[in-house]
Amino acid sequence: MTVANKKKYRIAWLPGDGIGIEVLEAAKIVLDKLQFNAEYIHGDIGWEFWCKEGDAFPKRTIDLLNSVDASMFGAITSKPVKKAEEELIPELKGTGLVYRSPIVRMRQLFDLYICHRPCKGYTGNPLNFKENIDLVVFRENTEDLYAGVEFNTVPPELAETLRKLSKPFAAFADLPGDQYAISTKINTRKGSERIIRAAFDFARQFGRKKVTVVHKANVVRATDGLFLETAKEVAKDYPNIQMDDANIDAMCMWLLKNPFNYDVLVAPNLYGDIISDLCAQMVGGLGFGCSGNIGKKLAVFEPTHGSAPKYAGMYKANPIATILAAKMMLDWLGEKEMANRLEEATKAVIAEGKIRTYDMGGQSSTLDMARAIADKL
Ligand SMILES: NC(=O)c1ccc[n+]([C@@H]2O[C@H](COP(=O)([O-])OP(=O)(O)OC[C@H]3O[C@@H](n4cnc5c(N)ncnc54)[C@H](O)[C@@H]3O)[C@@H](O)[C@H]2O)c1
Repeated sequence: MTVANKKKYRIAWLPGDGIGIEVLEAAKIVLDKLQFNAEYIHGDIGWEFWCKEGDAFPKRTIDLLNSVDASMFGAITSKPVKKAEEELIPELKGTGLVYRSPIVRMRQLFDLYICHRPCKGYTGNPLNFKENIDLVVFRENTEDLYAGVEFNTVPPELAETLRKLSKPFAAFADLPGDQYAISTKINTRKGSERIIRAAFDFARQFGRKKVTVVHKANVVRATDGLFLETAKEVAKDYPNIQMDDANIDAMCMWLLKNPFNYDVLVAPNLYGDIISDLCAQMVGGLGFGCSGNIGKKLAVFEPTHGSAPKYAGMYKANPIATILAAKMMLDWLGEKEMANRLEEATKAVIAEGKIRTYDMGGQSSTLDMARAIADKL
């Protein structure tokens, strides 16, 4: 099929803040060189829209995401609730607006329950912790401590109920409500089962041998107990894939000690967040960590790094994480051939070592890197 005959994809293009804008510009260079047939539709997201409109993820961007095949997202700046209130325009101050991370909202609103983070060490990357690391993290993306059910000041009704229902709460029961805070960790059977299945399905599809379930069920018995119990049930449907499990703390140690003992990792939201940064660091750090937030109807692909304000506008950031996120998007859309070509071109530039951004010890710019990869396509 010629490019002209192929489907024209609608891609929501959400650069966000800081270096998010530059790394998405870089990704566009390689997608254009691949002749990926797409209409890119800009979406507003990020700090500017929080300050001006009181909403970092405006409704028009939500509507856009409802109408596209997939999305590429750069990065946003997030600040704590009180700082966020201070930076609102005067007309919006004191109106009761509360800042919430737009990416967390996006994951929940569109039920992007899979966070898929491949962590592959490419030969020749001077930042590799060890050569040939190839780990894949599946992080639950909508529940757990990120559910958003939190109390900065604990209301008396809640304290009263906890006093009645929970013995360990006695240790806190006499504190005034403004002297403690509660963040709830909520994990459902459905949410646990579908992320665990996604990890096993991936392992089956790509011939991976083992899925390791990461938890802390010996201490966090209710929620992590449910996650582990669910994993043991799900594993029965995949007799050819080995399952083991480990506590998050031990996991961090063992991953560093021997990353080759691990293959696919699956975890509830917070532990998944932690181990995916650890795994990303082993294959080059934030400039290499890419991620897909995947639901049944929509998938949003992004580098795992943030907006790195100190480098904003300098075109110093490494765009490889974002270029690999674009590769994930191509794969997800079924454009396997383009996805493979993009990965091979990226691999070749890393192996050659002539073009390196500052994090890799070089002086090349964000766009130099993108052009070098595009030249290999
Ligand atoms: N998904 C997201 O949009 C996301 C993720 C993390 C942090 N944030 C937000 O980003 C802002 C900055 O957070 P932070 O400084 O903790 O984390 P960050 O990821 O933005 O940057 C931390 C440091 O990592 C390095 N780095 C990051 N990306 C790089 C790249 N592509 N190439 C080379 N080096 C890179 C830089 O040294 C940078 O200063 C905060 O407002 C935070 O809330 C957003």
